[in-house]
Amino acid sequence: MPKPLVAGNWKMHFTVPEGLRVTEELLHHLHPYAQAVEVVLLPPAIMLWEVAHALQGSGILVGAQNAWWADQGPFTGEISPSMLAGWCHYLLIGHSERRQLFGETDEELNRKLKAGLKHHLEMILAVGETLEEHDAGRTEEVVTRQLRAALFGLEPAAAGHLSIAYEPIWAIGTGRAATPDYANSVMGMIRELLAGEFADAGQVRILYGGSVTAANAPSLMEQPNIHGALVGGASLKPEEFARIVQAAAKVQTTPA
Ligand code: 13P
Repeated sequence: MPKPLVAGNWKMHFTVPEGLRVTEELLHHLHPYAQAVEVVLLPPAIMLWEVAHALQGSGILVGAQNAWWADQGPFTGEISPSMLAGWCHYLLIGHSERRQLFGETDEELNRKLKAGLKHHLEMILAVGETLEEHDAGRTEEVVTRQLRAALFGLEPAAAGHLSIAYEPIWAIGTGRAATPDYANSVMGMIRELLAGEFADAGQVRILYGGSVTAANAPSLMEQPNIHGALVGGASLKPEEFARIVQAAAKVQTTPA
């Protein structure tokens, strides 16, 4: 299993100067953990290049929050994986806000996944169920559908460049994180599904997302099926984000 991954999804926050100030602060706080944990910042596209530049040589990586699947063309407002290739390391796709507010489909995500991999980006695919689906006991069905459709037709080598973020929608921005046991059990199901898709499924990290804080990170990170976190609100606060990264580093360095 590769080292844990903690990604900070800034969503649509910060002006460019604010984002750069936060990056400087993060560099200061995250420096001690950059070896033990793969730390990725996902700033808005407008400041991605500047943040990447500011992080150069630190071991902390950048990723985009979204991209379209074509290399270029008449897609007003979009950016492409080929524009990110060579300097931006990660690409997040399928966040529930993209699915719900911008109508992204599983089929589109499959195209985006293939496009990102073609340009050698490390991909994070987000999946997760709504509250209604959760309450109706449909979590497994929904997550299975999302994964099967997005992963359809991928090359076996994709496993080495893929992470899955399980983000139950009811836990995002609500302050109501999934319990460690619940998250671990859904993520175990995801692990089994991946084993059926890839010979090398052990390479795929599975991250938990949804109201991760410095307070709940230790109990989440110590679950056997959780290999990192996709953090929203808490990633906007450098000290708190650093404590989440620290929790992941601690699990990594504590012998089982
Ligand atoms: P919060 O951590 O703010 O709940 O957001 C989670 C998320 O959507 C990360 O992608």
